[in-house]
Amino acid sequence: MIKLDKVSKKFATGVLALSDITLAIDKKEFVFLIGPTGSGKTTIFRLLTREMLPTEGTIIVNDWDVVKLPNHKVSHLRKKIGVVFQDLKLLLDRTIFENVSLPLEVAGVKPEEVKKKVEEVLVKVGMLDHKDKFPIQLSGGELQRTAIARALTLSPEILLADEPTGNLDMATSWDIVNLLSDINERGTTVVMATHNIDIVKKLAKRVIRLEKGRLMRDDKGLPDDSPHAQGGKAGKKEDHSSLKASDDVKPMTDKSEGQRKTEEKK
Ligand SMILES: Nc1ncnc2c1ncn2[C@@H]1O[C@H](COP(=O)(O)OP(=O)(O)OP(=O)(O)O)[C@@H](O)[C@H]1O
Ligand SMILES: [Mg+2]
Repeated sequence: MIKLDKVSKKFATGVLALSDITLAIDKKEFVFLIGPTGSGKTTIFRLLTREMLPTEGTIIVNDWDVVKLPNHKVSHLRKKIGVVFQDLKLLLDRTIFENVSLPLEVAGVKPEEVKKKVEEVLVKVGMLDHKDKFPIQLSGGELQRTAIARALTLSPEILLADEPTGNLDMATSWDIVNLLSDINERGTTVVMATHNIDIVKKLAKRVIRLEKGRLMRDDKGLPDDSPHAQGGKAGKKEDHSSLKASDDVKPMTDKSEGQRKTEEKK
């Protein structure tokens, strides 16, 4: 369970990245976090993992008050939250196996258990055959899968995926979203920041939209005539290659007026 109450973040530069954000995400939800570049999506993720502190407001993750959490408990918080970073943060001089095993090694897990867990998550994301390769030998989609695997090693309750389909073609983007959907269906809360409106509008998932740091929309909004609006999963097994940028997107309802009233990672 994630709860932000009247959260604002102003950087030392004077940029107000988030302004009076109040929202709650339940356990096991799948939520899209959308909004133009610079609207505050990554900032929310960085606040949730306590990479930085808000200027104002309260942040709760499970039963923890993230802002007041003593430093020695921050690593406990981060074990609960897996992050697929916007820039992936894979180490280029390490193999896929080594990259994925890092969080476990940092957590002091025994080598035999590390091997077992890393293989388990690599199977889950379909990357076991690539385990001895280096990042430079992989495609964009495979790199995303690797980053997702690394985020899953500590069996987090929450997965934050920051623009995981950026720079991927439509088919590969759907593969990644289907993978995140599967992870969600097995019980992990997933928050996916994305600019991929084609994907957002095809899935019957909750959408939170930010604009200039403000919460502009929070609903399960889909065009009523969408073939996917009645449920169904992540466009699975369907051919989305024909999706065009010109496909209609339901204008987003600006609920902002009402709704406004309501640093080193390991
Ligand atoms: N460390 C920082 N110092 C100063 N300003 C920052 C810092 N990090 C982010 N910002 C600013 O805060 C605002 C929100 O940035 P953020 O990275 O959260 O946007 P975003 O929605 O993730 O954008 P994108 O879609 O491009 O990833 C932007 O104006 C950005 O320039
Ligand atoms: Mg971002």
